[in-house]
Amino acid sequence: MNNTDTWLVTGGAGFIGVNFVKMLLAEKLGRVVVLDALTYAGNIRSLESEIESGAIEFVKGDIGDSQLVAGLLARIRPAYIVNFAAESHVDRSVDNPRPFVEANILGTQNLLECARQYVKNGGELRKFVQIGTDEVYGDLDMDFDEPQLLEGAEALVGREVRVFGRETFSESSPLKPSSPYSASKAAADMMALAYHRTFGLPVVVTRCSNNYGPYQFPEKLIPLMINNIMEGRSLPVYGKGLNVRDWIYVDDHCSGVIAAALNGRLGEVYNFGGYYEARNIDLINMLIDLVRESEGINGSGLVTYVSDRPGHDRRYAMDASKSIQELGWKPEVLPEDGMKRTVRWYLDNLPWVRDIVEGEYRSYYEKMYSNR
Ligand code: NAD
Ligand code: DAU
Repeated sequence: MNNTDTWLVTGGAGFIGVNFVKMLLAEKLGRVVVLDALTYAGNIRSLESEIESGAIEFVKGDIGDSQLVAGLLARIRPAYIVNFAAESHVDRSVDNPRPFVEANILGTQNLLECARQYVKNGGELRKFVQIGTDEVYGDLDMDFDEPQLLEGAEALVGREVRVFGRETFSESSPLKPSSPYSASKAAADMMALAYHRTFGLPVVVTRCSNNYGPYQFPEKLIPLMINNIMEGRSLPVYGKGLNVRDWIYVDDHCSGVIAAALNGRLGEVYNFGGYYEARNIDLINMLIDLVRESEGINGSGLVTYVSDRPGHDRRYAMDASKSIQELGWKPEVLPEDGMKRTVRWYLDNLPWVRDIVEGEYRSYYEKMYSNR
């Protein structure tokens, strides 16, 4: 790697992509070009200062557009392609699976094919990083009502970790996706690995657990709950609120992706996880407490149990020991700090949130939550 390398970041105007672009720039890892279709989830405002200052080049376009992608690769000659572009919300995939097939499967295949042609024509591509998710592994059992200490966690991540079950997902766990979203992501991973095996494309696949942090679209649990508390709206908890997610601060995911791009072995899969399991209802209560402490607004009366998500995965938990050992990576942000920082960011950036929730998001919200 040297800092004249070009990084093509697809989906760079979405939640994780924006944080990733900011990290690439902060670490001066090279020239950055963002390709993003600006779907409902893409927000160019999040990269306004980087675009205006000329720190990045922004190209509006679809990863599924072969002419556009081929022309872009030939022009910018990337050393790294990092594919964050995707339809990412499980509930939307339950409502309408088709866009997930188009963006996540066909779009990824087109990007891979264009990368293959670019290399064939002399392009020096060092890595194609396909960004995957823990959801491809399906879900895990909950063995404990109260979380238990995870053995060996101190040695692995340098702190105590509590878990709700005995099992975790490793890179060799079988793929058992539950939703159209996760099925489309599993297909994309498989396609990327096939392009490595068949055509020798320099692919690595990363799979991460639930990210939280700044710039997340407010359809997702954490920003949705913070915004609803601030607006005095009900807090819709699916089912009994007992489903468990493994939360990771977004910067810890981004540093893992950089490590995989720079040092990951070709054709390999790398898991990233936050080693922070929480039941949804406990997390929501934590958000309520943090907003109350900061703003004096008490959201506890707003909690409302609503009908469950069809096919709702019970528990995710990542075994990221391969990434920790091979890439020298680990999640650095302490969960309590990360959550505090995140709540602070949304409270300080209400105009960013309001801009979204006052637009077409309103009709999405009505459709998904009224009469639920
Ligand atoms: P997001 O929905 O916030 O952002 C997705 C971005 O991709 C948007 O900017 C959107 O405009 C763009 N996009 C969508 N379709 C496109 C297309 N066809 N061509 C070009 N751009 C397109 O998603 P996110 O939460 O930032 O997730 C990014 C990636 O990370 C996804 O691949 C997701 O599956 C994966 N992931 C997310 C999480 C998480 O917790 N959010 C965890 C693990 C993996
Ligand atoms: O695990 C990684 C995945 O995490 C990513 O691949 C996805 O792109 C990302 O969206 C996320 O998926 P989840 O479905 O876990 O995230 P979401 O924020 O939608 O929901 C988190 C949990 O909260 C889940 O158990 C459902 C529940 N939930 C969610 C919403 C939006 C509620 O109880 N109420 C809600 O209104």
